[in-house]
Amino acid sequence: MKIAIIGTGYAGLVTGACLASRGHEVVCVDIDESKINALKNGEIPIYEPGLTEIVQEGIDRNLLTFTTLASEAIPGVQVVFLAVGTPPADDGSADLKYVFQAVEDIAPYLSESCVVVSKSTVPVGTNAKIKDRILILRHPERSEGSTRVDSSAVPQNDSGDIFVASNPEFLREGKAIDDFMKPDRIVLGVDSPQATAVLKEVYKDFDCPILDVSIESAEMIKYASNAFLAAKISFINEIANICEGVGADVKDVARGMGSDPRIGPAFLNAGIGYGGSCFPKDVRALDQIAGVNGYDFKLLKSVIQVNNDQRWRFYKKVEKVLKGVEGKKIAILGLAFKAGTDDIRESIGIDFAQKFIENGARVSVYDPQAMDNAREVLERVGFYDSIEEAAKGSDAIVITTEWNEFKDFDFSKVADQVSQKLVFDGRNILSRKNIENQGFRYFGIGR
Ligand code: UGA
Repeated sequence: MKIAIIGTGYAGLVTGACLASRGHEVVCVDIDESKINALKNGEIPIYEPGLTEIVQEGIDRNLLTFTTLASEAIPGVQVVFLAVGTPPADDGSADLKYVFQAVEDIAPYLSESCVVVSKSTVPVGTNAKIKDRILILRHPERSEGSTRVDSSAVPQNDSGDIFVASNPEFLREGKAIDDFMKPDRIVLGVDSPQATAVLKEVYKDFDCPILDVSIESAEMIKYASNAFLAAKISFINEIANICEGVGADVKDVARGMGSDPRIGPAFLNAGIGYGGSCFPKDVRALDQIAGVNGYDFKLLKSVIQVNNDQRWRFYKKVEKVLKGVEGKKIAILGLAFKAGTDDIRESIGIDFAQKFIENGARVSVYDPQAMDNAREVLERVGFYDSIEEAAKGSDAIVITTEWNEFKDFDFSKVADQVSQKLVFDGRNILSRKNIENQGFRYFGIGR
């Protein structure tokens, strides 16, 4: 099929490259000219395992192309995926300016019966507004001077009609290719059999259940899924805080809980909380959606509060053990918001580095992938190329990202080079016994 993707961020680029690898003819559109020029040469602006290879394969097979021009990309395509950013506005709601700008850009060029699909995470009701907007742009005569057309009044088989659908994305950074190619489920929010048929054709080679639901339900599934996962994390973090009081080990508790298939073991890793570009934003947006619909989502508010408190609780533990951080040297291992990515959006490692500096500490940092991004936001910090160099002379080593490199590191290598032998494991990835055998004191979360 002929497909266009608007936006070459995480979701857009992965969707484009993966659909091309399944034999579709895909054109990716972005307003950023330098990004498009780089992509044409197979240069990927983000670190995502496997993405470079799959983009190159698409380019080589002439199935994946890039352009800045909607006028070039859109005519003749059967499906347009909107995968532009929906950053948080000041009140926590999703800012939809990029979505509606994309709609303006593509509307004049859409072919008859094209399906416009949202991949971007958008509040419930947004796709109906997208449909209205496209109808106004394509059939100004129907709006009769008003800014709104009642799209439900327009017959679906009307010639020149465009279909709208919601097809939320559930991929995780660092595992994006696998998540896209082998999804647990594909959610299609559609309001016409024609759109369902087209999208089933797009995903015909995917071996997973396809959920055919209303557009509103699809939009809600995305928010509810992210909010539930975030709630699981905040829940286990609160259990961890109680474990510290009663002398239990949260890792064992999570293992015991997760063995019950009704609970499941995933997303029960206690630590300093969730970060990234999705959970913090989507959880706040769902709280906002609830509010504007007259519902006070108390549980979700607590999820947010617990997540905000969790990191500072751990930070205070470091301060307490060190008897204040002023003049001390802290080595922070981990600047990416999680392992497997170079993304530092809502990264707790970055927050910690800034806070330690603010409180008079000297800070050295190391991350296997996120150093370049971190250099753009961190000041007065020593950047090092290895764990050993960052740890040299430190009073405390603080782990903020769950990289395997940290997990597998032999801390005895730095035992003679640190000022104080203290390891603070904000992701519970190390074995207390091993660290203590290597002569360090170990502080985890909930254990
Ligand atoms: C998340 C969802 O997992 C994806 O399904 C979704 O598609 C994506 O958001 C999105 O909306 O685009 P992502 O943000 O890439 O994916 O990262 P996760 O692996 O979910 O991790 C999020 C945060 O939670 C990280 O900071 C991670 O360290 C933390 N986390 C995760 C925990 O603290 N404990 C856990 O048990 C799991």
